[in-house]
Amino acid sequence: MCGIVGYAGNKNVESVLLVGLICLEYRGYDSAGIAVFDKGDIEIRKEKGKIKALENLLKEKPVDGHIGIGHTRWATHGEPSQINAHPHTDSKTSIAVVHNGIIENYQKLKFQLQSKGHVFHSSTDTEVIPHLLAEELKAGKSIKDAFLNIFSKIEGKWAISVLFEREPDRVYFAQDGAPLLIGKGKNEYYLSSAIEALIRNSAEVCYTKNKEWGYFTKNELAIFDFQGNPIVPEFKKQELKWTEIDKTGYPHYMIKEIFEQPSIFRKIIEKRMNGGYELNFPEFTLPKEILSRVTRLIIQAAGTSLHAGMIGKHYLEQFPKIQTDSEMSSEFVYRNPVVEGDTMIIAISQSGETADTLAGIYEAKAKFLKVISLVNNVNSTIARESDAFIDMLAGPEIGVASTKAFTAQLMHLFLFSLYVASLKWMIPEEELKALLDEVKLLPSKMDAILNKASIIEKWSKDFVDTKDFVFLGRTYNHPVALEGALKLKEISYIHASGYAGGELKHGPIALITSEVPVVCIAIDSEIYPKMVSNIEEIKARHGKIISIVNEGDEQVKALSDYCFEIPKCSEVLSPLLTVIPLQLLSYYVAVARDYDPDKPRNLAKSVTVE
Ligand code: AGP
Repeated sequence: MCGIVGYAGNKNVESVLLVGLICLEYRGYDSAGIAVFDKGDIEIRKEKGKIKALENLLKEKPVDGHIGIGHTRWATHGEPSQINAHPHTDSKTSIAVVHNGIIENYQKLKFQLQSKGHVFHSSTDTEVIPHLLAEELKAGKSIKDAFLNIFSKIEGKWAISVLFEREPDRVYFAQDGAPLLIGKGKNEYYLSSAIEALIRNSAEVCYTKNKEWGYFTKNELAIFDFQGNPIVPEFKKQELKWTEIDKTGYPHYMIKEIFEQPSIFRKIIEKRMNGGYELNFPEFTLPKEILSRVTRLIIQAAGTSLHAGMIGKHYLEQFPKIQTDSEMSSEFVYRNPVVEGDTMIIAISQSGETADTLAGIYEAKAKFLKVISLVNNVNSTIARESDAFIDMLAGPEIGVASTKAFTAQLMHLFLFSLYVASLKWMIPEEELKALLDEVKLLPSKMDAILNKASIIEKWSKDFVDTKDFVFLGRTYNHPVALEGALKLKEISYIHASGYAGGELKHGPIALITSEVPVVCIAIDSEIYPKMVSNIEEIKARHGKIISIVNEGDEQVKALSDYCFEIPKCSEVLSPLLTVIPLQLLSYYVAVARDYDPDKPRNLAKSVTVE
């Protein structure tokens, strides 16, 4: 996905747009650009690479003005390059457009426009938009009618912002399925794809809804629906503090967010239990009688959120005893699942904008199923499209590799499972209290693990040239093995695979050599002896063992090349602890290999395209 910003006010628009784009850089960093009204003309500056490259270009060729739009790109159509960078314009540079999302039918539209003589320069889908608008204006349409006409032509999920040379005091915007926020300042308005770019300048924020468009000047904001009817903008007080999205002294967002986990857990425990044992989810509006009638659950999510969902499946079957499946969103959408009336869908998404997961929600709603979601952004599209949502309370997660959101998801899946079990009178009071008492001990156990981060940092130097990693776990820690492998591969670019320990001998053991480190999660549990057998099998083939064990485990320690001890906790809650050394391992190995863990190549923080 990409990041869009816009501004109309009295400030120097070049610096406002650059600061905004830097706040959104996690959304994509293949190229960046701005379009500004400079003495009445639209001036374009755009460059391949991170925003730094655009800043350098602007030092050589500055622009001057107070109104403009900007874009930071994650390439979908057309390689990262200067020519494919946004903004894109019509042939006369009288219209400039920045775009997030996908125009699914752009080839057909491009062909039609080319047959009318339009000349295209880029290989992007976006470039059809300024040409479509130019065609409408050439036919004598007003800007309003031009917008309404093209909305019926373009297909896909998208958000755009547009400058028209004929209206040099206005920034136009429109969205159909991708986020666009309007921030209100003093004699100024801001536009952004996400809240991070509005925190410092806007006390109030309007979250536009699907199929809305409009414009703003420095003093006026107008919003309409896709039939042209005016809409009253709803502004909400925005509560985020700058420190929540600043690195506050950490070298990267990812390590800051890993170390934030204990404090986030203390906040979750406080908010969900307010000091006692009464679980509460005030934002969750689904009636209790509907929830207690659910006979089947399907969790659908992507990436790290899917790994959390796989553990959530265990919790929902163990406590409220509801048959639960966890599905990859991108597969769930096309699977046409067999479902009954009392089946409910749980969508898990940190960003709340993942296109695959959103598509899964639309598929579920087409089957008249209730959908609830677990999101980290309560103003997101997924939250809006759900019948009810739970806020995972992790605070903004900027690092592309998800860490604190994962453990916050697990915590909420665990507490929600207990909540539903108590609604259905399926958990004795004492058992509930004992489990919640153990939850309250988790933050200090996380602190104990993080206090030993330097051990992992030291190890990481040994893996700078490693080509392959294997991660093994069982039951609750099988998804943790998958998560550890995902973390390592997505930020250090080392090939890594996660497997259930029991699967090792069914094929993956062929990978084991002295060059292949194997991370084994072997905590006290019913399956501990089986993990020890896995470790013996690997040792017999000279594999390198990196073990995650409970404190005091001398047996596995003696078999390990690297052994990390975590505080004891029950197996059901162990993923909240076993994942932390794996997060640290991926971070330190990436840094040791001189990569930027916050902006891994080819990735973006939220994948808003299917
Ligand atoms: C996690 O480290 C990855 N960046 C990615 O797999 C992510 O979890 C996935 O894209 C789902 O994102 P979401 O939680 O925002 O839906």
